[in-house]
Amino acid sequence: MEKPSENLVIRGVEKKDAKYLLNLSIQLGYSVSYEKLEKHMNKIIGDDDHIIYVAQNNEKVVGWIHAYIYKLFYADLMVEIGGIVVDKSKRKKGIGNKLMKEAENWGREKGCSAINLRSNIIRKNAHIFYENLGFKNVKKQFTFHKKL
Ligand SMILES: CC(C)(COP(=O)(O)OP(=O)(O)OC[C@H]1O[C@@H](n2cnc3c(N)ncnc32)[C@H](O)[C@@H]1OP(=O)(O)O)[C@@H](O)C(=O)NCCC(=O)NCCS
Repeated sequence: MEKPSENLVIRGVEKKDAKYLLNLSIQLGYSVSYEKLEKHMNKIIGDDDHIIYVAQNNEKVVGWIHAYIYKLFYADLMVEIGGIVVDKSKRKKGIGNKLMKEAENWGREKGCSAINLRSNIIRKNAHIFYENLGFKNVKKQFTFHKKL
């Protein structure tokens, strides 16, 4: 039986990956049109403060992580994880781990001293995943939102 770790490549996202990113973003719980996703993705590809890595298994993209530099004038540079998702048929095989390590290395190279992420309280499996990677839950917060 094929193991995803064989033939698995972690690489920077390319414009041709948009259709896979769409499918995976829906799995993450975000419904977005193909046109919007492609437009936003292309902007991010051209921004050095952001990175999207994808996990490619054979010809198919089976996971992505988006990381960006979080800049505050009163703190050292930090990496913020915008999202991470692995295709539901490929989970618990080490792919998420590889994506996160790549984002961490990118952050180190960018001079960041820490990495943060926010995760919905209901995503219990993801919390175990983060804790196994050495993340600590340091704060409980409310998320306020307003349309502009
Ligand atoms: C969270 C997610 C990205 C993890 O990716 P993954 O490829 O399944 O994770 P890995 O296989 O690299 O897991 C590494 C470790 O995390 C833990 N882990 C991962 N998924 C787990 C689960 N469902 N339950 C318990 N532990 C889990 C395991 O300890 C695992 O190590 P092990 O295989 O040695 O036991 C993936 O499950 C996913 O896409 N979930 C849905 C989307 C999501 O919740 N994203 C995060 C939003 S905040």
